[in-house]
Formats: sequence, C-alpha cells, structure tokens
Amino acid sequence: EWTIENFIDMEVEKLQEKVGDRNVLCALSGGVDSSVVAALIHKAIGDQLTCIFVDHGLLRKNEADDVMKVFADDFNMNIIKVDAKDRFLTKLAGVDDPEQKRKIIGNEFIYVFDDEAAKLKHMDFLAQGTLYTDIIESGTETAQTIKSHHNVGGLPENMQFELIEPLNTLFKDEVRELGSQLGLPEHVVWRQPFPGPGLAIRVLGEVTEEKLTIVRESDAILREEIASAGLDRDIWQYFTVLPNIRSVGVMGDARTYDYTIGIRAVTSIDGMTSDWARIPWDVLEKISTRIVNDVQHINRVVYDITSKPPATIEWE
Ligand code: XMP
Repeated sequence: EWTIENFIDMEVEKLQEKVGDRNVLCALSGGVDSSVVAALIHKAIGDQLTCIFVDHGLLRKNEADDVMKVFADDFNMNIIKVDAKDRFLTKLAGVDDPEQKRKIIGNEFIYVFDDEAAKLKHMDFLAQGTLYTDIIESGTETAQTIKSHHNVGGLPENMQFELIEPLNTLFKDEVRELGSQLGLPEHVVWRQPFPGPGLAIRVLGEVTEEKLTIVRESDAILREEIASAGLDRDIWQYFTVLPNIRSVGVMGDARTYDYTIGIRAVTSIDGMTSDWARIPWDVLEKISTRIVNDVQHINRVVYDITSKPPATIEWE
C-alpha cells in the first residue's frame, strides 16, 4: 500500500544504500521542493548532506533568516548561506530587459554555487527537488530552478556529480504531505511559488537597492494582511510589483511625485492560467493604506485585475 510513511521508509533505505559513506550536495532555495528534498535526504544520511543557500539579495523580507532558522537551527543541517547580494546587484546594474535580467541571475547563481562547492570536501551527489510534473511540463517555479540546476555544465571540471531526485515520482500535494511528515513547518510546506530571479523581476526595469526595498517592504505588508485575513491558502500567489512610473499625489499640504505600487494576487491551479483574486475591498483598503503610510516613496496603489492569458502572473 502506498502511503507517505511507507514512501519515507523506502526512500530513506534507498538513499542510505545508494550514498553509502559518500557526500551529497543540495542547492536549497527555501522553496517547497528543495526544502522537502533536503529534509528527506537529511533524515537518511544526516551530516553527509551539505546544503548551499544562495542569498542573491533578491529575496523577500526575512526570507534568508527564516530559511536559516528552519534548516540550520531547527533541523541542525549543514547549511552554508552565501551572501552574494553585491555580486548580483553589480551584474544587474544598468540592465532593464526582463530576459536579460533572468539570464544574468541564472548564470550568476551557477557561478556562486560553483565557487562555494569548490571550497567543500568532495561531493559525490547533487540532490534536486525535481517533481513528477517537472518532467512533463515547464514554466513553473520548479521547472525554472531545474533549468539552472541542469546547467551543471557550469560546474568546475573536476566536479562530477551524480544526480539524486527522490521526489521525481511525486505530485505537489504529495510533496507537501511528505514535508509535513518530515516535520517541516506549515509556512514552508505551504509557501507560495516564488520565482528564481526573485524581486528582480518585480522591480520593472533597472534593479536598484532603493527599488528593491520598496517592493520588499510593500510585499511584506501585503503578505501580513493576506495572512491575517485568512486568505493565504485561497490565493495561489500574491505579491507587489514596482512599475517604473511616478505620479502626482498630495501629502499634508505638499505635492508629491512618487512611485506607484501594483498588487498582483491570483488564483490558479498550476500557474499556466490564472484569474485575479477577488480580495475583499476592506482588505484591499487596509493594504493600500498601510503601504502608502509605511513605505517611503509610494503615493499610489493599484490592483491588477487581468487574468492570464492575456497577462502573465509576473509583470516581467
Ligand atoms: P508567469 O509570469 O509566466 O508566471 O505567468 C507563471 C509562474 O512562474 C513563475 N515564474 C518564474 N519562476 N523563474 C522562476 O523560477 C522565472 O524566471 C519565472 N518567471 C515566472 C511565476 O512566479 C508564476 O508562479
């Protein structure tokens, strides 16, 4: 009989047999799939697993600390956090084309990962959170992660990894259940999709630190209010974007000329199509008020009411 408990027992045994006394490397993003794969492999081989977590400076508020808390503090895993913000921001300076930004971030991710991996003792295996669905479709968060990871051509020549993909027979809902069984917290197991290029594709046009701060702070407010309204499981993905426009406003007696924040919140099954979420107006009002009051350089908030197609979920 197939149950998650049986799956864990079988996979742990298989992993122990396969890995023996060798070592496994894992790129942990904090997303559902890489988190579950790390937890599963850690259960099987403990300290023979090393995770590399690249903080590219494009993460959401508190995200890096949270990943470290769960995996380093609570799970006691070998995890290396790489502070690569400067590397990424330097490479992104002056770049405004969305695909160019993606390419730069994807490549830089591999360079940073390689640099860190080269400092470690020899790693025999590379673990990936490939799901069953990743094998048959592309375009989702995980598929994108896989694209970068499949680019193992970018790894130093003396490093030869064998791939380990213990989730590749599972669907997303089974992966969540597996994560829960392995003791991962709810907020990890139910985390909304977050793109590999992170906030860089939510700051439209050129990425600057100031703009990243605006989108990060407004996004944190949005997430807080969606959670306290109890809507976080109903809405598939929700975030703020910073379009490259300023408009006129008034604050006290003074005229302002500042940025607009867009709110994007969608319902979806798989991200391939989506509808805009019907967030209650009073919740939207609270979000809007908090954002203009608390986030510097925002004097206007708009709500995106387009479905996909014709729009996409992300604005870039
Ligand atoms: P779109 O914007 O194409 O997004 O409607 C569909 C889903 O994919 C995510 N997305 C990405 N994920 N790298 C990723 O890992 C990317 O470059 C990327 N672009 C979009 C998006 O967040 C949504 O869940």
